[in-house]
This record gives sequence, structure tokens and C-alpha cells, in this order.
Amino acid sequence: MARTLRLGIAGLGTVGGGVLDILARHGDLVAARAGARIETVAVSARDRSKKRGHDLSQVKWYDDPVKLAADAGIDVFVELIGGEGGPAKTAVETALMAGKHVITANKALLAHHGFALAKLAEDKGVALNFEAAVAGGIPIIKTLREGLAGNRVGKLFGIMNGTCNYILTKMANEARSFGDVLKEAQALGYAEADPTFDVGGFDTAHKLAVLTSLAFGVQVNLPAIDIEGIEQITLDDIRNASDMGYKIKLLGVAVASEEGIEQRVHPTLVPKGAPVSDTDGVFNAVVVKGDFVGDLMLEGRGAGAHPTASAVLSDVVDIARGNLRPAFGVPAAQLRGYVAAPPKAHEGGYYVALELHDKPGAVAAVARILADEKISIESIVQHGKLQKDTPRATAPFILITHDTVETAMRTALERIERDGHVAARPRMIRIERL
Ligand SMILES: NC(=O)c1ccc[n+]([C@@H]2O[C@H](COP(=O)([O-])OP(=O)(O)OC[C@H]3O[C@@H](n4cnc5c(N)ncnc54)[C@H](OP(=O)(O)O)[C@@H]3O)[C@@H](O)[C@H]2O)c1
Repeated sequence: MARTLRLGIAGLGTVGGGVLDILARHGDLVAARAGARIETVAVSARDRSKKRGHDLSQVKWYDDPVKLAADAGIDVFVELIGGEGGPAKTAVETALMAGKHVITANKALLAHHGFALAKLAEDKGVALNFEAAVAGGIPIIKTLREGLAGNRVGKLFGIMNGTCNYILTKMANEARSFGDVLKEAQALGYAEADPTFDVGGFDTAHKLAVLTSLAFGVQVNLPAIDIEGIEQITLDDIRNASDMGYKIKLLGVAVASEEGIEQRVHPTLVPKGAPVSDTDGVFNAVVVKGDFVGDLMLEGRGAGAHPTASAVLSDVVDIARGNLRPAFGVPAAQLRGYVAAPPKAHEGGYYVALELHDKPGAVAAVARILADEKISIESIVQHGKLQKDTPRATAPFILITHDTVETAMRTALERIERDGHVAARPRMIRIERL
């Protein structure tokens, strides 16, 4: 094979190591598909002495990924370091400025600087590919950018963080608390020592910001996302939801309407049997609603060395074949400015958990407030024990509402709290129309 595509890989950790594994095992297969030999000619990581499981003695080493990005001997700069700024950003910009194609798995970088980087890549006539940045091995970027090019997408949603899904699944299946499962996930390496980024919903938000841009043809807008994590989900919530026919999942949801775009990340009650309800453990799933194709769901491994590296290799093959497309589906200049839908626009049912003072008339008062806000109750569950040991006895009062709007729901909960019917802040979990 006459042609060679020369890679410079910055970052030899989980994903970088996975890329080296695939190239070692499937070099011929990938070359046949790419129409070129794929050769790693230079690499960068922090610690040169670390054992990487691959012979890198013939490969140029850089302590500084920015210098690697500027190396005239590479055709493609593969950024697998991570982080929204720092050396990852500088190196990607350096490579693009030097007219090199860039592949990155870095959703944080794209969520913060995706639009500017896409513009730069276009100005230089090179690719900015990021299949691995969202949902690991699931080819959702290509699906949105190419497979669904004939559709207008109205909504997409999905489970995009394996750590959260693992925790929620374990809580449900083993009747364990959030804190208990989180500790185990940390011990097994599924969760970081500081889990905020995952369990707080921020990682999902980064991925959602990228998908929203691709799906609706608008500029990436991370700050517009309403983000809520899973830290407040209790085992009782999961049991109550299950009794009423639901599972609780952390979803990223993006909706486009005439009023504008809505992006949300939050725990969600998903009816058992609905799409994504059976996506358990560390798996991810994304559902896209296109006007001509209908509903489409992609499910698979959303992280890990090999699934993520598999996505990186698809970007490599595209570049080798000369399949260069605008990063976000349309040229950057044609990405529309982001118009946000009115805040708190969610319409749907709600799961509401109240710690009600156990006194006559409390339930009736709550029902009256809900009726005032035109919210009707679909079902009521009462689980758990009366808290006799607290100064004022309280009882958990759990209800599911029929469809309503979020602003009405919030107003009702504020009134319930202000009027002194509850001993703790009311909690609500959205039910999504899937
Ligand atoms: N892990 C996944 O399953 C997954 C899935 C999808 C996307 N991603 C994304 O892929 C990227 C990489 O993730 P990862 O899990 O592979 O990370 P990782 O295991 O922590 O590896 C990071 C690599 O970057 C190197 N590095 C860090 N700072 C550096 C610096 N200043 N200069 C040069 N090299 C530096 C590290 O060097 P040393 O090895 O010497 O420490 C290491 O090789 C991130 O953007 C992440 O969000 C990861």
C-alpha cells in the first residue's frame, strides 16, 4: 500500500492505550478500509518511563503535546489527554493552525470551544472529528451528521454517563443507598475519587451540548443547559417509582420547537418497557426522533478503552479516505445562533416526594394547592414509616401528577413549603414523554 497516514497521539491513558491496541491487532483490516497504512509516528504523555504495553521505541516521544501537534511529520493529531483548556486545547489549536487534521475524544473541550474550533478547522480545510467524545463506542455523531442528514430532528435524549447508570441500576437491583453504591463504584474504578463531574450531571451536559449542536444545526451552548445530578435520589424514590411502573435514569434531553431550544440533564422517571428503560449498568443509549425516519435508538458501551478507541479509529479511517465534513454537520458560518425556549418549559408528569407534617388537613391542603395550579394527581403512594422521633411527626407522601408544566409544579411546591405543610424541602423528579 503506497499511502501512509501518520498519526501523532497525545495521551496514552485509557483511550490512547486502546487506540494502540486496535492498531496492533487490526492494522491490516483498518489499512484495507482506510486505503492507507496507518502509522503512529509520534506520541506524548506525562511519564515517559511508564509501561504502556506497546513497543514505542521507534516512535518519536514528546513530553509536550503542543510540540507534538506542531511536528511536520504528522498528518493527524489525535488528542486523548482531556480537559476543557490547558495543553489539550493549546495542542488542538496548534495542530489546526498548522493545517493538520484533528481527532479528539474530549467532550469538555468541544462543549466549551466546539464552535470556535470547528470554524478554525474549516478555515484551514482540515477535519475536526470527535466520534469518541459522546457515548464512547456508539456511533451517534456519524448517525446525526450523516445517517440522518435527510431529517429534521425534533428531540433527542439518552443515558450518556455510565457511572450514573451503574449507580442507579445497582441501587434498584440490590436495594442499596446512593452513598453505598458510589463507594463501591469508586473502589472498582467506575467512579472518580471526586465523583461530582459524573453524578452532578456535568459530564452528560458536555455530551448533550455537542449532540444538540449537531442535531439542530445551532452553535454549541453549554451554559444554556439546566443541570441536575443524581445525588438526591434515594432508595425510597427508586422503590416508589418502581411500584408505579417506572425506573429512574439520568437523562440528557434536547428539544427543538418554534419557541427555541431546551436542553436539560436530570434524573427522570422512565416507564418500564419504554426506550432506554432497559439500558442498565454502564451501558449508554441515545434516542433520536427524526421527522422522516421516526424514532431511532442506539445502545452500547459508552466508555472504556476499546469501545472508545473503536470510535477514534472510525475517525481515522474517514480522514484517510478523504471524507471531510463540517464538524457539526453544516459549515460553521451556517450554524444558527442559539435561541433558548422559555425557562422551565418541561411539560410532563412529575413524581413528588413530600415529608408531610402528620396533622389533620395536611393532605387536603396539598391537594388544594395542586388544584389551584391546575395540577391533577394520577396516583398516590405512601411508603416508609412515620417519623415519630422527630420533634413534629411527619409522614412521607409520594404522588405522581398528570401532565403539567414545570413552572406550575414549581409554584405549587414553593407554596406547599411556604405554608408550612412539610418538614423538608419538597422534591420532584420529572417524568419524560418518550
Ligand atoms: N476513558 C473513557 O472511557 C473515555 C470515554 C470517552 C471519552 N473519553 C475522553 O478521552 C480523553 C482521555 O481520557 P482517558 O480516560 O484516556 O484519560 P487518562 O486515562 O487519564 O489518560 C490521559 C493521558 O493523557 C496524558 N496526559 C495528561 N496530561 C498531559 C500533559 N500535560 N501532557 C502530555 N500528556 C498528558 C497522560 O499521561 P500519563 O499516562 O503519563 O499520565 C495519559 O496518558 C478525555 O477527554 C476523556 O473525556 C474517555
